[in-house]
Amino acid sequence: MDVKTNTNEEVLIDKFNRVVDYVRLSVTDRCDFRCVYCMDEEMQFVPRAQLLTLEEIARIAQAFTELGVKKVRITGGEPLIRRNVIKLFEDIGQLPGLDELVLTTNGSQLTKLAQPLKDAGVKRINISLDSLDPEKFNRITRVGELQNVLAGIEAALAVGFEKLKLNAVILKNRNHDEIIDLVRYASDRKMDISFIEEMPLGVIGDHDRAEAYYSSDKIKSDLEQEFTLVPTTETTAGPSKYYKLNETGTRVGFISPHSHNFCEQCNRVRLTCEGRLLLCLGQEHSVDLRKILRAYPGDMDKLKQAIKDSMLIKPKGHDFNLTEKPIIFRHMNVTGG
Ligand code: GTP
Ligand code: 5AD
Ligand code: SF4
Repeated sequence: MDVKTNTNEEVLIDKFNRVVDYVRLSVTDRCDFRCVYCMDEEMQFVPRAQLLTLEEIARIAQAFTELGVKKVRITGGEPLIRRNVIKLFEDIGQLPGLDELVLTTNGSQLTKLAQPLKDAGVKRINISLDSLDPEKFNRITRVGELQNVLAGIEAALAVGFEKLKLNAVILKNRNHDEIIDLVRYASDRKMDISFIEEMPLGVIGDHDRAEAYYSSDKIKSDLEQEFTLVPTTETTAGPSKYYKLNETGTRVGFISPHSHNFCEQCNRVRLTCEGRLLLCLGQEHSVDLRKILRAYPGDMDKLKQAIKDSMLIKPKGHDFNLTEKPIIFRHMNVTGG
């Protein structure tokens, strides 16, 4: 049975009995950065005609909330460079049943968009920040300007979201020497921070992923030179394992798909900007929701049925392996993490 009723509301449950109440929507695969771990230097982006329209994305979000989804995260590429994207936040922000509308961004547009996002009902934002050194930042993002992102972070702080979290992907010999500085920067601003191990999604020419691997355990022991890390029991049913720093109260997360497995508690599915519903970040099982939307315009029941049926093919988990050629040819910008 893939669907249950609970207080008159439908709930999505997969065949391993995991409740799916969180959906990540990628609104574009384009980005104003070219992070070396995420994209190749030359990328082919989805032709605009193949993208879901903002109305279609809002409709899919509605279908999910009617099926018990409580949390929607907007991702990309860089979601904030999609034209009129604020309208989408406004529409999703008003959906009944939704507890949390959240965003993952590279921060480049926040100086102008932090306030409109807050007004649309966004509660929390995750902002990628891999370096505090302008040159290193530029080397990692290939084209990004650190100053813009730092100004964007200050703008978001000034607007007053419930929580801001930084995401830092740590690569050996690129930014592993900045771990403590990044934590201090987050602590000083009362932000959380997550350190992410690079995942082998898509072919990248910049570096050998096995060579650049810097484990969460190593990051943790680097931090222990300066701080006392206290494990917390807290979980978002996601990949992060959280600690609290005794000295500053900062929450530090570690996202380590290689060293720890969290698939048993997975509560999420993700939609690509073309409308492919991916049932796992590390697998290809998917359902084409765009096809259904366009074959049956306005038919909410058809859309909801397709989502319910997708629960039958949500895989048990993934197994990322850095030493083999990528099994997943999708780059991260296609799914937004
Ligand atoms: P929550 O939504 O609160 O759980 O935050 P988050 O930290 O998962 O979201 P964010 O968009 O900031 O992503 C941070 C990192 O977590 C990215 O590198 C994602 O790819 C990774 N991530 C998110 N979900 C999954 C998942 O299901 N599997 C794996 N392996 N990684 C994930
Ligand atoms: N491995 C791990 N994290 C990645 N991100 C992008 N590509 C990768 C990858 N290959 C991160 C971004 C952002 C988050 C959504 O995913 O830095 O913080
Ligand atoms: Fe853009 Fe985020 Fe990918 Fe960097 S990691 S290129 S900011 S989508």
